[in-house]
Amino acid sequence: MNYLSPSILAADFSKLDAEISAATDAGANWIHLDVMDGAFVPNISFGIPVIKSLRKVTDALFDVHLMINEPIRYIEAFADAGADLITIHYEACEDVVATVDAIHALGKKAGVAISPDTDVAVVKELIPQCEMILIMSVYPGFGGQKYIEATYEKIEAVRGMMIEASKPNMYLEVDGGIDSNNIDKVKDAGANVFVAGSSVFRGDIGANVRELYAIIG
Ligand code: DX5
Ligand code: ZN
Repeated sequence: MNYLSPSILAADFSKLDAEISAATDAGANWIHLDVMDGAFVPNISFGIPVIKSLRKVTDALFDVHLMINEPIRYIEAFADAGADLITIHYEACEDVVATVDAIHALGKKAGVAISPDTDVAVVKELIPQCEMILIMSVYPGFGGQKYIEATYEKIEAVRGMMIEASKPNMYLEVDGGIDSNNIDKVKDAGANVFVAGSSVFRGDIGANVRELYAIIG
Protein backbone atom coordinates (compact mmCIF):
# COMPACT_ATOMS: atom_id res chain seq x y z
CA MET A 1 0.00 0.00 0.00
CA ASN A 2 1.17 3.52 -0.79
CA TYR A 3 0.01 6.55 1.14
CA LEU A 4 -0.01 10.26 0.46
CA SER A 5 0.48 12.35 3.60
CA PRO A 6 -0.50 15.94 2.81
CA SER A 7 1.48 18.42 4.94
CA ILE A 8 -0.76 21.16 6.27
CA LEU A 9 2.26 23.43 6.65
CA ALA A 10 1.39 24.61 3.14
CA ALA A 11 -2.33 24.99 3.86
CA ASP A 12 -4.20 28.20 4.61
CA PHE A 13 -4.15 28.18 8.43
CA SER A 14 -7.31 30.31 8.58
CA LYS A 15 -9.29 27.40 7.11
CA LEU A 16 -7.54 24.22 8.11
CA ASP A 17 -10.78 22.29 8.60
CA ALA A 18 -11.95 22.94 5.02
CA GLU A 19 -8.52 22.35 3.51
CA ILE A 20 -8.07 19.04 5.33
CA SER A 21 -11.57 17.97 4.23
CA ALA A 22 -10.72 18.80 0.62
CA ALA A 23 -7.68 16.50 0.86
CA THR A 24 -9.45 13.66 2.66
CA ASP A 25 -12.55 13.84 0.43
CA ALA A 26 -10.22 13.30 -2.53
CA GLY A 27 -8.80 10.16 -0.94
CA ALA A 28 -5.99 11.19 1.40
CA ASN A 29 -6.21 9.15 4.60
CA TRP A 30 -3.04 10.43 6.27
CA ILE A 31 -2.38 14.04 7.33
CA HIS A 32 1.20 15.18 7.99
CA LEU A 33 1.60 17.64 10.87
CA ASP A 34 4.94 19.46 11.03
CA VAL A 35 5.83 20.62 14.52
CA MET A 36 8.83 23.00 14.75
CA ASP A 37 10.37 24.47 17.88
CA GLY A 38 12.60 27.28 16.60
CA ALA A 39 15.60 25.42 18.06
CA PHE A 40 16.07 22.09 16.27
CA VAL A 41 15.01 23.92 13.12
CA PRO A 42 15.07 27.67 12.39
CA ASN A 43 11.29 28.02 12.24
CA ILE A 44 8.23 27.76 14.48
CA SER A 45 5.00 26.22 13.19
CA PHE A 46 2.24 24.94 15.50
CA GLY A 47 1.89 22.45 18.30
CA ILE A 48 -0.28 20.53 20.69
CA PRO A 49 -3.48 22.67 20.85
CA VAL A 50 -3.75 22.88 17.06
CA ILE A 51 -3.40 19.11 16.69
CA LYS A 52 -5.95 18.57 19.45
CA SER A 53 -8.46 20.82 17.69
CA LEU A 54 -7.89 19.21 14.29
CA ARG A 55 -8.43 15.78 15.82
CA LYS A 56 -12.10 16.73 16.13
CA VAL A 57 -12.54 17.34 12.41
CA THR A 58 -11.06 14.24 10.77
CA ASP A 59 -10.45 10.52 11.26
CA ALA A 60 -7.37 10.57 9.01
CA LEU A 61 -4.19 9.08 10.42
CA PHE A 62 -2.27 11.87 12.14
CA ASP A 63 1.34 11.58 11.02
CA VAL A 64 3.08 13.94 13.44
CA HIS A 65 6.61 14.99 12.43
CA LEU A 66 8.37 16.40 15.46
CA MET A 67 11.21 18.76 14.50
CA ILE A 68 11.95 19.54 18.13
CA ASN A 69 14.89 18.94 20.47
CA GLU A 70 14.54 16.08 22.95
CA PRO A 71 11.00 15.18 21.86
CA ILE A 72 10.81 12.59 24.65
CA ARG A 73 9.66 15.49 26.87
CA TYR A 74 6.48 15.92 24.84
CA ILE A 75 5.54 12.46 23.54
CA GLU A 76 2.69 12.07 26.01
CA ALA A 77 1.25 15.48 25.15
CA PHE A 78 1.25 14.70 21.42
CA ALA A 79 -0.22 11.26 22.00
CA ASP A 80 -3.00 12.79 24.08
CA ALA A 81 -3.61 15.44 21.42
CA GLY A 82 -4.44 12.71 18.90
CA ALA A 83 -1.24 11.70 17.12
CA ASP A 84 -1.39 8.20 15.64
CA LEU A 85 2.17 7.99 14.41
CA ILE A 86 4.89 10.09 16.02
CA THR A 87 8.14 10.65 14.16
CA ILE A 88 11.16 11.99 16.00
CA HIS A 89 14.51 13.10 14.55
CA TYR A 90 17.56 10.94 15.04
CA GLU A 91 19.63 14.13 15.38
CA ALA A 92 17.37 15.61 18.09
CA CYS A 93 17.47 12.80 20.64
CA GLU A 94 20.08 11.88 23.17
CA ASP A 95 18.53 8.40 23.28
CA VAL A 96 16.57 7.51 20.13
CA VAL A 97 15.53 4.05 21.32
CA ALA A 98 14.22 5.38 24.65
CA THR A 99 12.17 7.95 22.72
CA VAL A 100 10.74 5.27 20.42
CA ASP A 101 9.95 3.15 23.48
CA ALA A 102 8.10 6.09 25.03
CA ILE A 103 5.96 6.37 21.89
CA HIS A 104 5.18 2.64 21.96
CA ALA A 105 4.37 2.75 25.66
CA LEU A 106 1.52 5.12 24.79
CA GLY A 107 0.19 2.73 22.14
CA LYS A 108 1.28 4.86 19.17
CA LYS A 109 3.30 4.00 16.08
CA ALA A 110 6.86 5.36 16.03
CA GLY A 111 8.92 6.79 13.20
CA VAL A 112 12.54 7.93 13.08
CA ALA A 113 13.55 10.72 10.69
CA ILE A 114 16.98 11.52 9.31
CA SER A 115 18.00 14.93 7.97
CA PRO A 116 19.92 15.23 4.67
CA ASP A 117 23.40 15.31 6.26
CA THR A 118 22.88 12.24 8.45
CA ASP A 119 24.53 9.02 7.29
CA VAL A 120 21.81 6.65 6.14
CA ALA A 121 23.66 3.76 7.82
CA VAL A 122 22.37 4.90 11.23
CA VAL A 123 18.87 3.65 10.49
CA LYS A 124 19.91 0.02 10.11
CA GLU A 125 19.71 -0.79 13.81
CA LEU A 126 16.55 1.30 14.21
CA ILE A 127 14.53 -0.61 11.61
CA PRO A 128 13.68 -3.46 14.01
CA GLN A 129 12.65 -0.92 16.67
CA CYS A 130 10.07 1.22 14.89
CA GLU A 131 7.25 1.28 12.29
CA MET A 132 8.56 3.98 9.95
CA ILE A 133 11.76 5.57 8.70
CA LEU A 134 11.40 9.12 7.34
CA ILE A 135 14.06 10.32 4.93
CA MET A 136 14.15 14.10 4.60
CA SER A 137 14.57 15.16 0.99
CA VAL A 138 15.03 18.82 2.03
CA TYR A 139 16.61 20.42 5.11
CA PRO A 140 13.84 20.43 7.72
CA GLY A 141 12.31 23.77 8.65
CA PHE A 142 10.42 25.07 5.65
CA GLY A 143 7.92 23.98 3.03
CA GLY A 144 8.32 24.73 -0.65
CA GLN A 145 11.98 23.72 -1.02
CA LYS A 146 13.50 21.80 -3.90
CA TYR A 147 13.85 18.02 -3.64
CA ILE A 148 17.49 16.97 -3.12
CA GLU A 149 18.37 14.52 -5.92
CA ALA A 150 20.80 12.54 -3.74
CA THR A 151 17.79 11.28 -1.76
CA TYR A 152 16.93 8.56 -4.30
CA GLU A 153 20.01 6.52 -3.39
CA LYS A 154 19.20 6.80 0.30
CA ILE A 155 15.65 5.54 -0.28
CA GLU A 156 17.01 2.54 -2.17
CA ALA A 157 19.50 1.84 0.60
CA VAL A 158 16.88 2.01 3.34
CA ARG A 159 14.39 -0.17 1.47
CA GLY A 160 17.24 -2.67 1.05
CA MET A 161 17.87 -2.62 4.80
CA MET A 162 14.17 -3.17 5.47
CA ILE A 163 14.12 -6.19 3.17
CA GLU A 164 17.23 -7.56 4.87
CA ALA A 165 15.61 -7.06 8.26
CA SER A 166 12.55 -9.06 7.09
CA LYS A 167 10.35 -5.94 7.24
CA PRO A 168 9.88 -5.50 3.47
CA ASN A 169 6.58 -3.63 3.81
CA MET A 170 7.64 -1.26 6.57
CA TYR A 171 6.69 2.38 6.12
CA LEU A 172 9.37 4.41 4.35
CA GLU A 173 8.31 8.02 4.15
CA VAL A 174 10.00 10.73 2.12
CA ASP A 175 9.40 14.40 2.94
CA GLY A 176 10.21 17.57 1.04
CA GLY A 177 9.84 18.86 -2.48
CA ILE A 178 7.66 16.01 -3.72
CA ASP A 179 5.37 16.80 -6.65
CA SER A 180 3.83 15.19 -9.71
CA ASN A 181 7.16 15.38 -11.57
CA ASN A 182 9.20 13.31 -9.14
CA ILE A 183 6.78 11.23 -7.03
CA ASP A 184 7.02 8.29 -9.47
CA LYS A 185 10.80 8.19 -9.05
CA VAL A 186 10.50 8.45 -5.27
CA LYS A 187 8.13 5.48 -5.42
CA ASP A 188 10.38 3.48 -7.73
CA ALA A 189 13.29 4.02 -5.33
CA GLY A 190 11.26 2.28 -2.60
CA ALA A 191 9.19 4.83 -0.70
CA ASN A 192 5.60 4.00 0.23
CA VAL A 193 4.57 7.12 2.18
CA PHE A 194 4.83 10.46 0.39
CA VAL A 195 4.61 13.80 2.14
CA ALA A 196 3.36 16.59 -0.09
CA GLY A 197 2.77 20.13 1.15
CA SER A 198 2.96 22.72 -1.60
CA SER A 199 1.99 20.27 -4.32
CA VAL A 200 -1.27 19.48 -2.50
CA PHE A 201 -2.31 22.78 -0.89
CA ARG A 202 -1.36 25.19 -3.67
CA GLY A 203 -4.16 25.31 -6.24
CA ASP A 204 -7.01 22.81 -6.39
CA ILE A 205 -6.45 20.56 -3.36
CA GLY A 206 -8.79 17.76 -4.47
CA ALA A 207 -7.39 17.67 -7.99
CA ASN A 208 -3.83 17.68 -6.64
CA VAL A 209 -4.50 14.74 -4.31
CA ARG A 210 -6.15 12.77 -7.10
CA GLU A 211 -3.28 13.48 -9.48
CA LEU A 212 -0.64 12.32 -6.99
CA TYR A 213 -2.65 9.23 -5.99
CA ALA A 214 -3.09 8.32 -9.64
CA ILE A 215 0.70 8.08 -9.88
CA ILE A 216 1.45 6.23 -6.64
CA GLY A 217 -1.57 3.89 -7.00
C1 DX5 B 1 9.81 20.50 6.10
C2 DX5 B 1 8.58 19.71 6.47
C3 DX5 B 1 7.85 19.19 5.31
C4 DX5 B 1 7.24 20.24 4.43
C5 DX5 B 1 6.95 19.65 3.08
O1 DX5 B 1 10.51 20.80 7.26
O2 DX5 B 1 8.95 18.60 7.26
O3 DX5 B 1 6.85 18.26 5.72
O4 DX5 B 1 6.06 20.78 4.96
O5 DX5 B 1 6.52 20.67 2.24
P1 DX5 B 1 6.75 20.65 0.66
O6 DX5 B 1 6.03 19.46 0.13
O7 DX5 B 1 6.20 21.94 0.22
O8 DX5 B 1 8.24 20.52 0.43
ZN1 ZN C 1 7.44 17.01 7.59
